[in-house]
Amino acid sequence: MQTLTIRRPDDWHVHFRDGPLLKQVVPFTARQFARAIVMPNLIPPVVNAKMAAAYRQRILAVVPAGVAFEPLMTCYLTDTTDGSDLVAGHRDRIFTAAKLYPAHATTNADEGVTDIKRLYPVLAAMEQHAIPLLVHGEFVHADVDIFDRERAFIDRVLKPTLEAFPRLKIVLEHVTTSDGVDVVRANRARMAATLTPQHLLFNRNAIFAGGIRPHMYCLPVLKREKHRIALRAAATSGESCFFLGTDSAPHLRHLKEAECGCAGVFSAPVALQAYLRVFAEENALAKFEAFASLNGPAFYGLPANESRITLVNKNTPPPTNIKVENLGEIVPLFAGEQIEWSLA
Ligand code: DOR
Ligand code: ZN
Repeated sequence: MQTLTIRRPDDWHVHFRDGPLLKQVVPFTARQFARAIVMPNLIPPVVNAKMAAAYRQRILAVVPAGVAFEPLMTCYLTDTTDGSDLVAGHRDRIFTAAKLYPAHATTNADEGVTDIKRLYPVLAAMEQHAIPLLVHGEFVHADVDIFDRERAFIDRVLKPTLEAFPRLKIVLEHVTTSDGVDVVRANRARMAATLTPQHLLFNRNAIFAGGIRPHMYCLPVLKREKHRIALRAAATSGESCFFLGTDSAPHLRHLKEAECGCAGVFSAPVALQAYLRVFAEENALAKFEAFASLNGPAFYGLPANESRITLVNKNTPPPTNIKVENLGEIVPLFAGEQIEWSLA
């Protein structure tokens, strides 16, 4: 049986939520990953170091006993972010990075940034103190087609920001297009991108396969096949500017299977397995450790994990649903299917 042993990986982009969902979803990530960059788009959002420290404690409280897991916290940027609090929080190792949500771009982004220029003083402080800027790279406007939002963000927001702050480190989160891959490569000295399993596995046809598939709806939305091909080439290239970030984003089933359904794919229970399918199909298993365990820490200036995990090429059924007491259930990626890898 084929096995693969690699340094324990990290997830450089995950949504854990809060309250009753938190304890249901954190263990899935903690069992697979040593560390994770935790997104701050709660209600209310995590906008200062005090909130981040408290959220970090709530996460640690639901990590299963005997599992070593370190949440890396992010600051939700707004039009009124206090740059000195962010810098102090980073100095005190509460914040690892800060996240830019363009206002109204996605789930709980209503308090996001309305105009990047308003953030320039904060970006200057981040550049000075080497605090990475993580971007949700979509420009959302009535005149911009939803499938062109990433391209529009690159042209109208990202490129001017790269020019204005030549030393600012930027991660284009959940890159979905060849345009995104190109801009990251062109600025690789201080840019990187995370790639999700769903954008590597599926193109936009998956949202409409035989009918509308709410569990395939996420933001940025799945793109055309030519983009998926470019993303797969980037992920499996071994290039240090591309690394793993699931964007696992749990929503209750009834909130996705609804008249106006929420965006997000809950991939945490099968995250490594999903990526391994891609790397196996691309004959690139030898590049998996770089993508999953080495490139991310190198970008963030952190050591790679010392412990190892072994993955086995053995069919396992993923969970069909995850119950959340009194609230409903969450449907994970690959529910009801088989996946050809498991953790030894
Ligand atoms: O699909 C998504 N879900 N994209 C995001 O940017 C946010 C996330 C969420 O929080 O649900
Ligand atoms: Zn996300």
